[in-house]
This record gives sequence, C-alpha cells and structure tokens, in this order.
Amino acid sequence: MKTPRLILLLLLPGLLWLSACTGAPQDAPVTATPSDEIVIRIASGSVGLEYQMAEAGARRYMDTHPGVRVEIVTSPELSDDRLGYYRSYLENKSPEIDIYPIDVIWPGDLARHFVDLYAYGAGQYTAAHFPAIIANNTVDGRLVAMPWFTDAGLLYYRTDLFAKYEYDHPPATWEELEEMAQRIQEGERADGNANFWGFVWQGNAYEGLTCNALEWIASQGGGTIVSPERIITVNNLQAIFALQRATRWIGAISPPGVLGFTEEDGRTMFQNGDAAFMRNWPYAYNLLNDLSSPVRAQVKVAPLPGGKEGHSAATLGGWQLAVSKYSLHPDVAADVVFFLTGYDEQKIRAIEGGYNPTIMPLYQDTEVLQAVPYLRDLYDVFTNAVARPSTVTAPRYDQTSTLFYTTVHDVLSGKRDAPSALKDLESSLKNLLGYPIGRP
Ligand code: GLC
Repeated sequence: MKTPRLILLLLLPGLLWLSACTGAPQDAPVTATPSDEIVIRIASGSVGLEYQMAEAGARRYMDTHPGVRVEIVTSPELSDDRLGYYRSYLENKSPEIDIYPIDVIWPGDLARHFVDLYAYGAGQYTAAHFPAIIANNTVDGRLVAMPWFTDAGLLYYRTDLFAKYEYDHPPATWEELEEMAQRIQEGERADGNANFWGFVWQGNAYEGLTCNALEWIASQGGGTIVSPERIITVNNLQAIFALQRATRWIGAISPPGVLGFTEEDGRTMFQNGDAAFMRNWPYAYNLLNDLSSPVRAQVKVAPLPGGKEGHSAATLGGWQLAVSKYSLHPDVAADVVFFLTGYDEQKIRAIEGGYNPTIMPLYQDTEVLQAVPYLRDLYDVFTNAVARPSTVTAPRYDQTSTLFYTTVHDVLSGKRDAPSALKDLESSLKNLLGYPIGRP
C-alpha cells in the first residue's frame, strides 16, 4: 500500500518532534511500517463480477483512509457453501474475518455473531434504505447488517428471437412461456443449433432452487412454504400443480442438465446464445451486455410469468454487510461497511456491476437509470418481491430451505411424485419447527 506509507513518511518529522516534546526516549523506534496499518478482511464470493467489484470498493476506501488496509478473502461461490464456510469462522470466534457479506436470509440464523451496527452510528444512514430490508436485518432490535444490494428474480429474454418469431411482449403466464419457449426451441434447432433450449433456470439442489420454486409456487397462489403467521403451508394443491408443471419442463423446454444448474451455468448457456429465456438475478444484465458477449444488446428483462390469474412473484434476494463480533477492530470495520453500503459506492456498483441499490434515491438517479434502464420499469418487482420464510423460521431457516429444495429436486428429477413429497415435507417441517399445519 503506497498511500498510507507515503503519508506516514511525510508525517515522520512531525512525529519525531512530537516524541521529543513528550519526553519519549530519543532512541525509541519511530518508524512507519506496514504493521501500523489496521487490516480489515472481507469475505467475498465470485459470482459474475462479485470479486472484482469488492476489490474495487476496498481500493476506493483505502484511497481515502490511509492507515487501513482492506483485504478481500475468497469464500465459496454458492450461498449454501458460503454459510458453512462462514460458520467455521464464526463458531470458532475467529478474528480473521472482520466483515461478512450475508445473504438476505441469514440475519436471523447468524445474528448472534454480529455487532449491533446502531452502536457504531448506523442510525444516521438507515433512513435512506428500503425500510423492509432494514427490518429484515434487525433482529431483536439490533441492526446486524447494512443493506448492500437487493435482488429479485427476473425473466431474461432474447429480443432478436422475439423479432424472428414475431412476439411483441414477454410471456405473462407460465403457460405462455412454455408455448413460446417450445416454438423458438423447435425453430432454432431446425435452423441448425442442436444445443438450443427454451428456458434455463437454477435447478441444482441448493438455495437457488428454493428461490426458483418459491416463484413457481407463490405465483400460483400456493404460499411461501411457511407463512409469516408461523403456519406450515407448503402442502397444497397449487404448490403441487406448480411443481408438476416445472417437472414437465425438464427435457422438454429445459435441458436435463438444468437439475445441476446454478446462476452462472444458466447465464453461460444463455450468454452463448443457446437459450431463449432465462430466470436469473439482476447481476447477469451487465455481463450479458459486455462487449465480448454474443448476445450483447439482444437481451431484455421482464417480470417473471404469473400463475393462472397472471399473478407474478419474484423471490427477494440480496446481500448485506455485517461486522463480526470477534473482529479486533469493529469500529473500523463498521466504518468500512458504512462506506461500502453508502450512496456513492452503491451508485458505482449499480452502474458498473448492475447491482440493485438499497438506497431509494438511487432509483431516481439519471446516471444509474441510464446504465440500468429496467430499474425504472421494474421498480414494483423489486419493491414487491416475495421474501423467503427466513425470519419466521430463524434460527432454522437453513434447515427449512434444505428440506424444501431437496424435496423439490427429488420431484423434478422424477424420484418422487409431488403430492406425497410435499406431504412428507410438511411433516418434516413440523418436526423441525413445531408450527401448526395449514393452508396459504
Ligand atoms: C442470490 C441472491 C440470494 C440467494 C442466492 C441463491 O445471491 O441474492 O439472496 O439466496 O442468489 O443462489
């Protein structure tokens, strides 16, 4: 780090003079070494531009805060793996990582390991953020993380193919998506692209599948697995219907391999030009429009299709920054968090990385809207996104979701039929949570 060293060197004569005045022994070592720096470590994933963007933010902090070195530590890519990795540090009360980016579903499960950011002055920043996210990150009155970016499930589609097949609007219902995906797939294969598929999404057995399946079920009126009133609602006819429909997609409009797909697998295939539709988060938008992208400027986003009554549901996602209770410098770490989650940083991240801000005025910022035009059109999707039942099941959301996505994966891969799988899931959730069973 050049800057702090330079500044310390410039300050050196003054420091020597000061030590002489305060009567410190003349031969006491007054040297500026890198060990004078406070080191703050942030764990980062690597989905899309995640790692590069985190590094750039850290650099900007260091440019304006000599004496602090912010290091990025790599952590696993998938949300579930990251949770395990974090727990291995947190359960051991390790001071090695100061700042943890946490998924929107984790505040309840991990709250006890994080400082209350209100105690470090967060109160002056919270009012600008979406109140629902602040509420999500508040556990027993403690603000355990600052919102960093928000996510919602979106439908990506190819405008060039829409022109070719003469569609003038994105599908409003899942049935419409099925028809369009099927027709485009047949046409593209007939035109020589044997690897072409209609619709890609996240079907691997992990948190991403919970997000996708929640969208199918909630849009069909089948609820959110466990209701905010603590009722286990997952076993109902609409949920069964939604899972049966998605099961039919496999091998028909979605590749069999979708059952192993995460966000980046779907994006790669869609970006290569081998799919008509993709369900994904906002981060994909900038990458799809990158100079090197084969589908550059041929992609639009729309709300996900709706169930029978056209009711669309997007799962709420997003990441927050939390400060570890075991950090040796929680005050400096909190300052880094306030910087990284502040207006200027969120603006850069929206423009350069397509990360949706959590600060409301940024949705009116002309430069942001120019770079990410759909933020204006899809504002309602972002503000009405459906939350996973993480608050109501905390501290057992992790287990709740694992039971859910494992069950859904079994149904999709034809191992079990939807009615009996959801019935069993209902009783497993009752055993885990002890909540009553009911209908959405
Ligand atoms: C995205 C979302 C996060 C979700 C994850 C699932 O990172 O922001 O909330 O849990 O995807 O893969």
